[in-house]
Amino acid sequence: MLSVENLTVCYGQMKALRSVSIEISAGQMVALIGANGSGKTTLLNAISGLVPIEEGRIIWEDQSLNGFPPDKLCRKGIIQVPEGRKLFPSMTVEENLIMGAYHPNVRKKAQESLQKVFSSFPRLADRRRQFAGSLSGGEQQMVAMGRALMAKPRLLMLDEPSLGLSPKAAAEIFEIIRELNKEGITILLVSQEVMQTLAITTYGYVLENGVLVLQGDCKQLQEDPKVKTSYLGM
Ligand SMILES: Nc1ncnc2c1ncn2[C@@H]1O[C@H](COP(=O)(O)OP(=O)(O)OP(=O)(O)O)[C@@H](O)[C@H]1O
Ligand SMILES: [Mg+2]
Repeated sequence: MLSVENLTVCYGQMKALRSVSIEISAGQMVALIGANGSGKTTLLNAISGLVPIEEGRIIWEDQSLNGFPPDKLCRKGIIQVPEGRKLFPSMTVEENLIMGAYHPNVRKKAQESLQKVFSSFPRLADRRRQFAGSLSGGEQQMVAMGRALMAKPRLLMLDEPSLGLSPKAAAEIFEIIRELNKEGITILLVSQEVMQTLAITTYGYVLENGVLVLQGDCKQLQEDPKVKTSYLGM
């Protein structure tokens, strides 16, 4: 479905990604892990067309996406839930969700999509007229995910969805991600909750200072000595 081939991204002189290659098949749930500053968000932003590519290619269903603007990628179903949620705090839950159905392809079905999001997140239905800024962290993450679902994603990229949440709220978010994948949405999950992430994904990539240092089946990664010492604190 998506291949990233030898991708290099620079911020000025600094190479944030060096020749990174990843592969995601339809229906898969893939993990991307790595320490702070290793380039995880940069990789998602490059796939979303938010940062320019220095070298390499991004291929989506046999078509090169290099140089595609974010709105075109959105239209293809490549949707990112950004780090830090990026909601509109003084707009209501419902208004935030509707923003996700901005594209003409999905706009006509916005009301139908909204009902679907409310049935997946009943807690948001109860709070539909509440300002997004007044929600709990877990609820805000639900709005960010619901907004992404309004755009009818085929590939959903989640950047640190459990950041700052209590263990209980984080577990709930991970469960929802698992459900979305079961419903057929392909997922690329960035998270520092390495144990939980490797438990729900099938394949994983490990980034270090912009370089892919390890990849493999998540069961193997869980047993990998490097992953154990660097990311699982064992
Ligand atoms: N807009 C930018 N301009 C300059 N440097 C940037 C920019 N965005 C990121 N960087 C740098 O690129 C490197 C990779 O950052 P990135 O945000 O991709 O890391 P990350 O793995 O997502 O980290 P975290 O876990 O903290 O979210 C870091 O050294 C960061 O300082
Ligand atoms: Mg990041």
